[in-house]
Amino acid sequence: MKRRLFFLLAIVSAIGLVSMAFDDTSSLPESATTDKHPIQHSSEEAFDIMMQVVAHKRCVNCHPAGDRPHQGEDSHIHNFNVQRGEDGHGLPALQCSTCHQKENNNFSGVPGAPHWHLAPRSMGWEGLNRIEIAKAMTNPDKNGGRSIAEIEKHLTEDPLVLWVFEPGVNNEGTSREAPPVSKEAYIAAVKQWVAEGAIIPEQ
Ligand code: HEC
Ligand code: HEC
Repeated sequence: MKRRLFFLLAIVSAIGLVSMAFDDTSSLPESATTDKHPIQHSSEEAFDIMMQVVAHKRCVNCHPAGDRPHQGEDSHIHNFNVQRGEDGHGLPALQCSTCHQKENNNFSGVPGAPHWHLAPRSMGWEGLNRIEIAKAMTNPDKNGGRSIAEIEKHLTEDPLVLWVFEPGVNNEGTSREAPPVSKEAYIAAVKQWVAEGAIIPEQ
């Protein structure tokens, strides 16, 4: 009797697992459907979608508060005592490009994209909330003197920004987490937010 109960339980949980797997795949194409049938968002909704990417750890790991990049899902300090150096490309003896190439190296687990280097101090977003990040990002005193049009271009075209949608695998062979919205939905949201006046909500 006991054994039969166990058997039943096993079947029930197997069905559970299978349907979970289906749930998983059926929840995936959500952003894809949004892309095929673009929904008109309010400016605030567009801001939300944009900031799910901009405030993501994949960006903030390279926009730290101090002089050292961060790594991984837990944003720990970069190994090998890597430092910003004078121009964000690392100390003379340990340049970013020694390890980081123009594309991900999924054998060694080193991420890569063209002109891989550390964001300047004034662009440090670590510890800021999304409203503060948006304000810093659009402030010419902090963003390298960029206009809103230049920020839009950077946000939608820069290879370091677009890298986050295909961040490769880490040195344990596990995929790095990408932001929760698709590249297409993000780019559309940035363009809409700028077109509607780049308004940063109060909170
Ligand atoms: C000695 C080799 C080496 C050097 C030099 C180096 N890196 Fe890395 N970097 C790595 C490796 C390996 C990883 C991947 C670690 C992992 O994902 O577990 C990594 C990961 C990163 C990440 C994390 C990506 C993420 O979101 O998880 C950032 C950001 C980064 N490096 C920035 C830099 C910058 C900026 C420089 C130069 C100032 C630099 N690195 C210099 C080897 C290096
Ligand atoms: C590998 C490091 C790296 C990653 C990853 C990275 N950035 Fe940057 N970011 C930089 C560097 C370096 C600069 C300065 C480039 C310059 O001024 O020419 C910069 C500048 C910027 C700027 C313009 C300056 C400002 O503060 O407004 C924006 C906007 C920006 N990054 C957004 C992002 C977003 C959004 C992501 C993630 C989707 C991201 N970055 C990921 C290194 C990185």
